[in-house]
Amino acid sequence: MLTLILAAAISAATPVLREDNIPEIVSLLTLEEKAAILVGCGSTAFDGIGRNDVGVKGSAGATHAIPRLGIPSIIFADGPAGLRIDPVRPGTDKTFYCTGFPIGTMLASTWNTDIVREVGGAMGNEVLEYGVDVLLAPGVNIHRNPLCGRNFEYYSEDPLLAGEIAAAYISGVQSNGVGTSIKHFALNNQELNRLHNDARVSPRAMREIYLKAFEIAVRKAQPWTLMSSYNYINGTHASEAPWLLTDILRGDWGFRGVVVTDWGGGYDTAAQIHAGNDLIQSGSDSRYNALIQAVKDGRLSIEDVDACVTRALELIVKCPSFKGYSHSDDPDLEAHAQVCRKAADEGVIMLKNDGALPAGPDGVTALLGVTSYDFIAGGTGSGDVHRPYVVDLQQGLADGGFTLEPGLDGFYSKYMDDERWRCRMIDGNNSWVIDRERPIEAVPDSLIERAAQTADRAFVTIGRVFGEGKDRDLHYSYMLQDRELELLRKTADAFHAQGKKVTVILNVGGVVEMESWQKLADAIVLCWQPGEEGGHTVAAVLCGGVNPSGRLPMTISRCYEDEPSAPNFPRVFEDKPFNYSFYRRLEGNKKDYTVKDIDYTDYAEDIYVGYRYFGTKARNAVAYPFGYGLSYTTFRWSNMTVKSSGVYLVSVTVTNTGKAAGKDVVELYVAAPGRSIDKPSRELKAFAKTPLLQPGESCTVEMTVPAESLASWEEQCWTVEKGRYRFIAARHAADKGLKSSVRIRD
Ligand code: GLC
Repeated sequence: MLTLILAAAISAATPVLREDNIPEIVSLLTLEEKAAILVGCGSTAFDGIGRNDVGVKGSAGATHAIPRLGIPSIIFADGPAGLRIDPVRPGTDKTFYCTGFPIGTMLASTWNTDIVREVGGAMGNEVLEYGVDVLLAPGVNIHRNPLCGRNFEYYSEDPLLAGEIAAAYISGVQSNGVGTSIKHFALNNQELNRLHNDARVSPRAMREIYLKAFEIAVRKAQPWTLMSSYNYINGTHASEAPWLLTDILRGDWGFRGVVVTDWGGGYDTAAQIHAGNDLIQSGSDSRYNALIQAVKDGRLSIEDVDACVTRALELIVKCPSFKGYSHSDDPDLEAHAQVCRKAADEGVIMLKNDGALPAGPDGVTALLGVTSYDFIAGGTGSGDVHRPYVVDLQQGLADGGFTLEPGLDGFYSKYMDDERWRCRMIDGNNSWVIDRERPIEAVPDSLIERAAQTADRAFVTIGRVFGEGKDRDLHYSYMLQDRELELLRKTADAFHAQGKKVTVILNVGGVVEMESWQKLADAIVLCWQPGEEGGHTVAAVLCGGVNPSGRLPMTISRCYEDEPSAPNFPRVFEDKPFNYSFYRRLEGNKKDYTVKDIDYTDYAEDIYVGYRYFGTKARNAVAYPFGYGLSYTTFRWSNMTVKSSGVYLVSVTVTNTGKAAGKDVVELYVAAPGRSIDKPSRELKAFAKTPLLQPGESCTVEMTVPAESLASWEEQCWTVEKGRYRFIAARHAADKGLKSSVRIRD
């Protein structure tokens, strides 16, 4: 009885975690409990990759609970294109599907922060209602090279566009009272040997290009967490770098959240905690023991540990799991599918249209290409989503009232039953980190010939899917395959002989080579990987139900060798039987790496990434410039003004001078004097998308350019060069546009 009374007295005296008693709780935690909070519950997938069953089945990771002090577990789950959890669970017929939204690259292609915020809002609601606390997204690493396997998750070659899109996404998700984890901080721009690669980059390129998107998003949206990356930066592991995680992230930018490792990232737990990397995910006994031992050995101060525990508890008290939110497991997936559709509609980019579009739905349409019958909603790896369905183009066209040419439709429907996705085990036993073998194009010539006689037009889809853990093979993935080129040639020959048009749809996770085939197409529509509603979106664009308003978030060069980073990016080959992530798993964290592009990667192009290079240093023109995209209508711009009042206020009047309603995008570039500082010919400093303008309707868009955004990183600080700055309102990076100058004096 006495024991019970004592126990009751002790429990009554032991406080539980509240928002206002964190220091007291920290003082009551034992070292072992502190380590348990900082080191995650582990994961059941290979090598620490996100797969956890604590709390929510199929989430990515969790923290340990400390019940005696009222500290719950919190749950992390992927990913940028939608919440990733297991869709089915043992013991129940209920399903747990999540909306498959457009990939990050397509969200950026909308150039519309309002729609991206709306996507974040819907996605964040699924995070909340499925019982997850933090969504491991967005991914904002710069598209340094088109062969990077994870570019589909990322936004752009330009840090301003990436940063603004990320800030909108984070605000949307976090408006639900759940967190995000902006990633991968930083310079995770290739997958080959990602756990060990040392990114070697100048301070200026780091600040102006590779950290800038994170900076914009942190300052504007304060993500609850940030994920440090797998790689080294100039010889220090990103998760073990105080200059990155404390000095820059918290000191310079004012980040108030928690830093979490990538899953299994880094090596030296003491160094990670000391650097300000608060949470070690997915966690393991060895990491837990290493933390405790480091404190006991004096290699890690308890003050560093307490600083991380304090930040972890500040995160925990914000989470639904702490607040006892009773999640429904029943988010409104139908409503979210419409948000997905709306965003995809705005992310489609029309690259070419020689009188082919809009087309249909009247008449007969010949639909070719295996991908037309098996649309690709997103990429592979942790950025994949368990979607309730995917609408392919065959279904999208049929739902849109198109009549499909029966010979081809019948052939492909039967053929695709035999040729469905076949995953080729390129690198071992983890299907979700490898490319999937594309069904092979094999339509008989006779069917093409007959369709050219009976149909009014041809639509041909080319598909590409790739993802985490591996970069793209130049010939297999970036170039078109011989079978694909043959299909395009035969279709173009047959239909052009009948005076009929051919449209190519690119259902791809990243850019492909264009020069060798684009002349065969009368129209080219880039629909990226548009999520579960993809077929409906593309059908609506093709028939003019939606007027395309997407713009390229990267440059499409004329050939891979023109890419500024091509001399310093790994070339992977499909026949290698190893997992690229761990290509050079050297013992410990040896730093004397010697193999170029694998052990280390030299960012020799420095700040000259994408249009910054092509518009300033390249000898060759590009296939399609950054910011490019066509519309079914035309717009006239006028009355550009630039007013300076601490910030630069830029306005431009946009008038729809065509016959179809449409949206336009004003891209505001600045050309600096470039006398005392080496500068690109122009850099994007703001952008604005108009609302839907009816024919003849005008609107005035207003953009803000902070004066400090004109600065360059020089001698360890930001410097604004004096002289004349040209503000350029342009349709893309190579467009002369409207100009207005301002002078910055001493
Ligand atoms: C992966 C990815 C990261 C993901 C995490 C959890 O390795 O790099 O983007 O969020 O593990 O799955």
